[in-house]
Amino acid sequence: MKTQVFTINDPSEAAEQLKAAGQIIRNGGLVVFPTETVYGLGGDGTNPDAAAGIYAAKGRPSDNPLIIHIADPEDADAYAYTCPLYFALAKAFMPGPLTVIMPKRDRVPFSVTGGLDSVAVRCPSHPVANALIRAAGTCIAAPSANTSGKPSPTEASHVLQDLNGKVDVIIDGGECEIGLESTIVKILQDDQGQPYLLLLRPGAITHDALCCVCPRVDIAPAVAERLAENERPLSPGMKYRHYAPTAPLVLLDGDAADVLAFLRAEQAAKKCCVLCFDEEADALAGGQLIPVGARDDLATQAKRLFAALREADATDAEIIYAHLPPKDGLGLALYNRMIRAAAHTVLKI
Ligand code: TXA
Ligand code: MG
Repeated sequence: MKTQVFTINDPSEAAEQLKAAGQIIRNGGLVVFPTETVYGLGGDGTNPDAAAGIYAAKGRPSDNPLIIHIADPEDADAYAYTCPLYFALAKAFMPGPLTVIMPKRDRVPFSVTGGLDSVAVRCPSHPVANALIRAAGTCIAAPSANTSGKPSPTEASHVLQDLNGKVDVIIDGGECEIGLESTIVKILQDDQGQPYLLLLRPGAITHDALCCVCPRVDIAPAVAERLAENERPLSPGMKYRHYAPTAPLVLLDGDAADVLAFLRAEQAAKKCCVLCFDEEADALAGGQLIPVGARDDLATQAKRLFAALREADATDAEIIYAHLPPKDGLGLALYNRMIRAAAHTVLKI
């Protein structure tokens, strides 16, 4: 298959291309599109054949369910059994980087939900994503547009590395603003029938922010901990190894000065690549470095993480070092991605 690349920064100047891309989705084809989190690999969310095409292009096991993307939070009713808590979340955070899991309606095929009777719904804020969903006239099922096991793509060049020749169109909309995938919550009911949230994947909508809308937000154990062998995860995606670079990634935990001294010694002893804070770049100059942002600037670290992991993978380093992120605020989202990329390898310095 020949993959076409459309560059679209302003949807109002790309009506023809968006119409063509929407038609491709309606015909069962695949279109990669930018969102504010990461690029998505999209197909018609009501078409089982499109879902099969997505799994094949990504090399993803088909029991790992897809998120359906809608243009307006109200459209969720067509695909899921919504409730007042959904609309409270929508009012606070949509359009934006939040995905909500609810019971699915029949219109969503089981091939999209990996056989589950729930469906994940998200309304992205990226104008190109919004315009594409409108042009398609259906919901768009889309996982992150990487080959399974690779870091999620935050630039069109990453998508080309993974999916060139496997999709009909890639829409290049530049760099993704947030750089980590959406926060995922599932709406559940307690014994009294009161709704509450279970946080399945942390993202830019933080636990604290969710707690402002819903008094009870539980955090699934797999978010920050290693699941025991044979323990069943609450979200199928949690059981797969994610974002794994070829060289082992080791996360360093310790006092800033001690970690820096450790890194300098390692640089002298072996081929390593360091995902460093900007303020460490001078002290570590000479070795392979990928600056990921200032120590206190978690938003920039989030935005750069996946590109940095791809870059580190392309070096000849035998080991990759990075700092262990904090577990609060946006830090929890970084922690969740990095601890899995590192297969839970943390070195206390
Ligand atoms: O930011 C994002 O969410 C991006 C962009 C493209 O929107 N999408 C994304 O999709 O990250 P994906 O497929 O890479 O991750 C979706 C995760 C998977 O771990 C999957 O297991 C989980 O959501 N998931 C989807 N539907 C679910 C369901 N019904 N129940 C539990 N987990 C579900
Ligand atoms: Mg993914």
